[in-house]
Amino acid sequence: AAMAPGEETRAAMAPGEAVAALVSRAGRRDPYPLYEALRAHGPIVPVRPGLTVVVGYAEISRALRDNRLRVQDAASYDVIYPRWRSHSSLRGYTDSMLYRNPPDHARMRRLVSSGFTPARVAAMRESVERMVHRLLDRLADLGAGGAPVDYIAEFASRLPIAVISALIGVAEDDQQWFRAMASDLTIALEGITNIGRLGTADQAMDELAGYFGDLIEHRRRHPADDMLTALVRAHDDGGAGLGHDELVGNLMLLLTAGFETTSFLLGHGLRLAFEHPREAARLRGGDPDRATAYVEEVLRYETPVQATSRWAEAGMELLGTPLEGGTKVVLMLGAGNRDPRRFPGPTRFDPDRPDIQPLSFGAGPHFCLGAPLSRMEARIALPLLLRRFPALAAAEPPDHRDRWVGRGLRRFLITVS
Ligand code: HEM
Repeated sequence: AAMAPGEETRAAMAPGEAVAALVSRAGRRDPYPLYEALRAHGPIVPVRPGLTVVVGYAEISRALRDNRLRVQDAASYDVIYPRWRSHSSLRGYTDSMLYRNPPDHARMRRLVSSGFTPARVAAMRESVERMVHRLLDRLADLGAGGAPVDYIAEFASRLPIAVISALIGVAEDDQQWFRAMASDLTIALEGITNIGRLGTADQAMDELAGYFGDLIEHRRRHPADDMLTALVRAHDDGGAGLGHDELVGNLMLLLTAGFETTSFLLGHGLRLAFEHPREAARLRGGDPDRATAYVEEVLRYETPVQATSRWAEAGMELLGTPLEGGTKVVLMLGAGNRDPRRFPGPTRFDPDRPDIQPLSFGAGPHFCLGAPLSRMEARIALPLLLRRFPALAAAEPPDHRDRWVGRGLRRFLITVS
């Protein structure tokens, strides 16, 4: 194959340069050439002492299953930012499973999963369909007479919140407030890269902790057949159950981990449908298998969470590459999802690829608990949206968020009629 312009210079780019460029403006907009620059150095790239990045599909998949690579937890926060406990948002997250290592992690995950079962998700299908139809009615009103509507604000960010609220048991009247809090809190998901803005996240954390406290108390007195009741029971059983702060921390995680990520998936899902009219037409046909394949390819092609990190235990190696204890290992999910050894012609958007299985929800012990739920939302929403509005079109090019890890759209004006 002929070399694309600039390919030689990219191949010559040093790993440190490529990593720095990822968080530059150009890199945040289009990280993919930089992943290829890193890949030119191999699937596992030592960048400097203390930092290694992984860009290969098989290598990321292996690393995510390796318990010697630990997630950020209270102990590692103590090392990188001793004052972290002054931030309630960081404390809140370290009380959740995403920030716990063995043996704590398995206990929390088992208890939360006992409330968030596949059966409970499957039982939500009809209510998700109803929510989608209601939001589509709203889009029809807002977009009457060809008025441009922001698909992100009015649809893609509303559906995930409505779904999580229903799952947790948040009253409908509280949902707009809840959405604002969730959005403030996601700042803290980026850890200390955003220290200046953590005050906003802390405030949201404090308000939500109060709100969840009341909700928990209410469920204790009035048990229902919902996830929160199951979690409260896991707390009240004591022993190896969930502590109160852990219960709140995990509710916070469920709220924020599934909010923006799913809106990114819905955002790119529509954008790619406009760019690939033949695929849009197939989705309109209403075959659920098409929707499944389409959503998997969107997840691969525009990975909503581009990277996650781990910390190496002393004296380990990853597939032959030695790692010093305390090395930060960045697993670039967005790069693994475009690894040409795993996905031939990776820059082609092609839902007909066999056996897609993207890395977008992670793998191993921390594999995304919300994967079935967000997949269901996208598989239902995108075809219904396209069917409802035959004249659906982009009113202007989408406005991309200016971030590397959380890859999504900030604003996307569309016309529905
Ligand atoms: C974990 C992505 C939706 C709840 C993760 C991880 C990824 C991810 C990559 C693993 C992080 C790591 O290993 O470091 C996504 C994407 C989503 C999505 C791309 C949507 C397209 C959701 C939803 C929920 C959710 C809807 C819940 C309602 C969680 C939880 C974890 C997690 C609780 C932590 C699991 C653990 O630590 O054991 N997600 N997620 N996610 N996700 Fe999601």
